[in-house]
Amino acid sequence: MSVRILQFGTTGQVARELLAQAKGHDVEITALSRAQADFEDPDAVAQAVRAHPADLVIIAAAYTAVDLAETEADRAHRVNALAPAAIAGVCGDDGPAIVHFSTDYVFDGAKGAPYVEADDPHPLNVYGASKLAGEGAVLAASSRALVLRTSWVVSSHGKNFVKTMLRLAGEGGTIRVVDDQFGRPTSAADLAGFVLAQAPRLAKARAGAPVFGLHHFANAGEVSWKGFAEGVFDLALGPAAPKVEAIATADRPAPAMRPLRGTLSTQKLERVFGMKPRTWREALGDILAELKDEQRSAA
Ligand SMILES: NC(=O)c1ccc[n+]([C@@H]2O[C@H](COP(=O)([O-])OP(=O)(O)OC[C@H]3O[C@@H](n4cnc5c(N)ncnc54)[C@H](OP(=O)(O)O)[C@@H]3O)[C@@H](O)[C@H]2O)c1
Repeated sequence: MSVRILQFGTTGQVARELLAQAKGHDVEITALSRAQADFEDPDAVAQAVRAHPADLVIIAAAYTAVDLAETEADRAHRVNALAPAAIAGVCGDDGPAIVHFSTDYVFDGAKGAPYVEADDPHPLNVYGASKLAGEGAVLAASSRALVLRTSWVVSSHGKNFVKTMLRLAGEGGTIRVVDDQFGRPTSAADLAGFVLAQAPRLAKARAGAPVFGLHHFANAGEVSWKGFAEGVFDLALGPAAPKVEAIATADRPAPAMRPLRGTLSTQKLERVFGMKPRTWREALGDILAELKDEQRSAA
């Protein structure tokens, strides 16, 4: 029997990938947009959960404007903590299983090694603090919730680093990219594919099963933003790739502080789910191919 999924978010990178890939899986997705369930109104979001019977609830809506969050802390907290808490409160331990997404920005990046799920979080910015509050609230309200922390999400749609770099290359001029922040780029498509493949297992798993709780999901390979930009140019433009100049985080002041090395270890997820995320370069190849296809069909 197919898994009935209630998905919050329709337009984001991960939300779009979930919807695009659903037909390849034994799932039926009902997806609610911001207009149908605004996370700024947690009571309305809870009501939406009650109104849509489901086996699995996927929370793909979030406040993701990291710099803006510094001046919109209340809003970020409502969307990233109170609304997910309201959803999990309705689901509880006996209702639908939950998949919720969180971030490497719950860490301060000072560990000097990849972060495991048991490491103490210490967010440096408001966005990270709001996501940390959200993951804690979801896990406290439901023992059938999988919270997937991920990092540096990219895809062929929406606003993201890959698309920004390609635009800058098209504009010409010197491209300067931060070379002292390290992480694991993650394809929204790979993340969505993982969630959909696990949906039947999650829908059936008992409260407290190892598939629930905190897990890290990221494509393999640690890289700096500059290294990632060079990967994009290398794969997309080959010999025509522009030169990338290294700068330090301090050279490009931003409202929100970011962890210098928030790299996530995915060993727990690999052990529990018996899968290994592929490398970010492989995933990037697919994203660039999709962008080329889109360009061709638009021409
Ligand atoms: N992007 C990253 O690099 C990154 C890194 C680590 C973790 N994550 C986490 O991964 C998850 C998915 O991220 P993403 O990259 O797919 O995000 P995204 O592309 O920024 O999409 C965010 C989604 O949330 C929706 N949304 C925002 N405010 C809302 C509100 N008040 N009510 C209802 N919906 C609202 C947006 O809808 P509208 O189109 O209406 O605005 C959009 O569909 C999030 O939990 C995020 O925190 C992301």
